[in-house]
Amino acid sequence: MTALLTAEDVVVRFHTKKGVVHAVDGVSLQLEEGEVLAVVGESGSGKTVFTRRVMGLVAGGRGTEVAGSVTFDGTVLTELSGKELSRFWGAEIALILQDPMTSLNPVKRIGEQLTESIVLHERVPKREALARAVELLRSVGLSEPERRVRQYPHELSGGMRQRVTIAIALSCSPRLLLADEPTTALDVTVQAQILDLLADLQARLGMAMLLVTHDLRVVRSRSDRIAVMYAGRIVETAPTATLFAQPRMPYTEALMNAVPPLSGPNHTRLQVIPGRPPDLLHPPSGCRFSPRCPLAQDRCLTEEPPLRDAGSAEHRYRCWFPVGSPEWSQARARNLERGVSAAGTPLTDEKVLT
Ligand SMILES: Nc1ncnc2c1ncn2[C@@H]1O[C@H](COP(=O)(O)OP(=O)(O)O)[C@@H](O)[C@H]1O
Ligand SMILES: [Mg+2]
Repeated sequence: MTALLTAEDVVVRFHTKKGVVHAVDGVSLQLEEGEVLAVVGESGSGKTVFTRRVMGLVAGGRGTEVAGSVTFDGTVLTELSGKELSRFWGAEIALILQDPMTSLNPVKRIGEQLTESIVLHERVPKREALARAVELLRSVGLSEPERRVRQYPHELSGGMRQRVTIAIALSCSPRLLLADEPTTALDVTVQAQILDLLADLQARLGMAMLLVTHDLRVVRSRSDRIAVMYAGRIVETAPTATLFAQPRMPYTEALMNAVPPLSGPNHTRLQVIPGRPPDLLHPPSGCRFSPRCPLAQDRCLTEEPPLRDAGSAEHRYRCWFPVGSPEWSQARARNLERGVSAAGTPLTDEKVLT
């Protein structure tokens, strides 16, 4: 299979008054046709900036430094002008954002926004476009689509609005859908419905999808592969089942432990990842996770581990002493002796989810 999307060594730096923000720092990844790749990491790890760079919404100049390349189906997007790029938007690559209000026009009816997008890319007569709009709204599970096309965004709930943005994104049958935390602003039951809708549409239409989220648990059953981001870098990547069965980065393991079981009661104990997320103005030396890693050794503080293979090229990670290694076992044993959990969290510091 040839990759539909290839990002190679993508770098985005913002030159600010306070210094240089290393938002995306050498990210490489590939996405095959029809594949779902989840990009997961805590907030501030560079997920949105990376996604916007892929879309071409972040460009160099005016204090923004970019490097690396993004190739879509043989076309190097990062070499195109804004005008050339815009031919890909909607028609080939579509983007869904966290807050549907930011992508919907508050003063235009839903139907108008949908038909505009359809007419723009397909040059069908308006009446036909309106009929397609109704069909699209039906396909994203909106009730009474004939009525919805006459409504304004504010007349719909958050979940319904996100269904509308999905319908707009799908209106031109894109081959790649970039979904940046598409459900983070919604409440839990609606989140699951929207994610299931996306998974269903993705499979039905055979689109590739880059699903960006801070919540590892939501992609477990909804992605083929996962790339874990930390401080602007990919720190582990693997097929989803492999990642869950055998995480190698202590950060990935910490993310998994930070996740309460879905079926658990509301007050399930959540082990928070100790320490602060990294400051991208001053990324830590050595392994970027080392200041927070309870299992870090001297080498981790000075030398950054490369992204290396864990048995297969499909599973790669950045860690000197990965989960399961003898050094890792020893460090865990030492933590237990010190009266903290094996993963290094002070036992009294556990937070209770409310
Ligand atoms: N325009 C900008 N100027 C300066 N810093 C920015 C800008 N956009 C994003 N950042 C910084 O880049 C880092 C990564 O942000 P982001 O990609 O939004 O993280 P995530 O989506 O993973 O939460 C953050 O530290 C953020 O403050
Ligand atoms: Mg984000």
